[in-house]
Amino acid sequence: MTSKDNFEFAHEHRHEVAWMSQNTNTLPVHPSILEAIRTSADEREFNLYPRKAGISGLAEAIREDLGLDDADMILTNGGIEGEYIATRALLKAGDEALSTDPAFLPIHDQVAMTGAHAIEVDIYRKPYVLTPDLALESITPATKMLLAIDPNNPLGSGYSPSQIKGLADIAKDHGLWLIDDITYRDFNADHVLATDFYPERTLLSYSFSKAPGLAGLRIGAIIGPADAIRTLRRFDTNVLGVNVLAQRAALAALRSKKEWLPEIRRICRKNQETIRHTVAKVNGAALPVFPSKANMFVIDLAPTGVNPEVVEERLLFDHLVHTRAGSYLSKKHGGKFLRVSFTVSEDDCRRFADSFPIVMEKLAG
Ligand SMILES: Cc1ncc(COP(=O)(O)O)c(C=O)c1O
Repeated sequence: MTSKDNFEFAHEHRHEVAWMSQNTNTLPVHPSILEAIRTSADEREFNLYPRKAGISGLAEAIREDLGLDDADMILTNGGIEGEYIATRALLKAGDEALSTDPAFLPIHDQVAMTGAHAIEVDIYRKPYVLTPDLALESITPATKMLLAIDPNNPLGSGYSPSQIKGLADIAKDHGLWLIDDITYRDFNADHVLATDFYPERTLLSYSFSKAPGLAGLRIGAIIGPADAIRTLRRFDTNVLGVNVLAQRAALAALRSKKEWLPEIRRICRKNQETIRHTVAKVNGAALPVFPSKANMFVIDLAPTGVNPEVVEERLLFDHLVHTRAGSYLSKKHGGKFLRVSFTVSEDDCRRFADSFPIVMEKLAG
């Protein structure tokens, strides 16, 4: 079975599957978000191309969410499209972009599309982030960009303010672009933006997929100073704007954030604990990073000798629990771990807790 087959099966059984494979969020959506989508559909707003700058109020609400009054932005089909636009606009053949292993590797593929390549600094070791020292060691004259995923997918590790400042200072000293991928920011109450330290050349990759639970609507933004965004616009393929229903949902999500975010964080804390207790029961399995500052973390299986891809398969096909093997997220260490997301109901998390030890026992035996 390939990962593609697993996704085919999971989608086919979507209503029964505990979806712990993509850091999405299947917890209840705030009623105002649903209402915004329904109203937009009822009013057939979709008949028209949306306003190019986004529906009225959306850019302002994003700025307010970040506390950045002057930031400019391009609304995109998910954060990943903004990263595509940024890498396209800012990198060329022979350049290097400093990133990590593990990381969300599709961004590295985007770097490769420009002819540049991603330097993957090994962070599968304490403190599980790209420290300023590690970054400095890997900078070369070809380095043009630094990519920080904060909190990190898949590790769930978060950068401290001094670590982010350290990276921002290095980027500034070397004249690098700094992409601060803040897809999982909402899960970390102590998160600090790199923009606070290096506003001139920091671009924020912003997503509505995770905490607000809007992954399927495909909406996000790339955000930065006006001159940088002007440079990026040359590669903006959405001249006709992004999905208007998604924009309505995004605006409603920001306006109601104070009402839904605390509950999502509470369930994440609870589910993390449940998973921690479960992992502790399995000989040789461990959580390198705990607690996670995102909505996922890694379960290291290396000492068990069990292949994470087989664990992914057995959890899905025998127990309807969909997790993701590490090969999607790390070239060096992917064979060692399983990534588990926990923005799911406590019942779904319980299903994982019940089935993971059974699967591991069968496979280890
Ligand atoms: C670090 C990181 N960046 C970007 C994305 C893409 O997010 P979006 O759904 O907003 O395109 C993901 C999705 O998992 C991610 O993990």
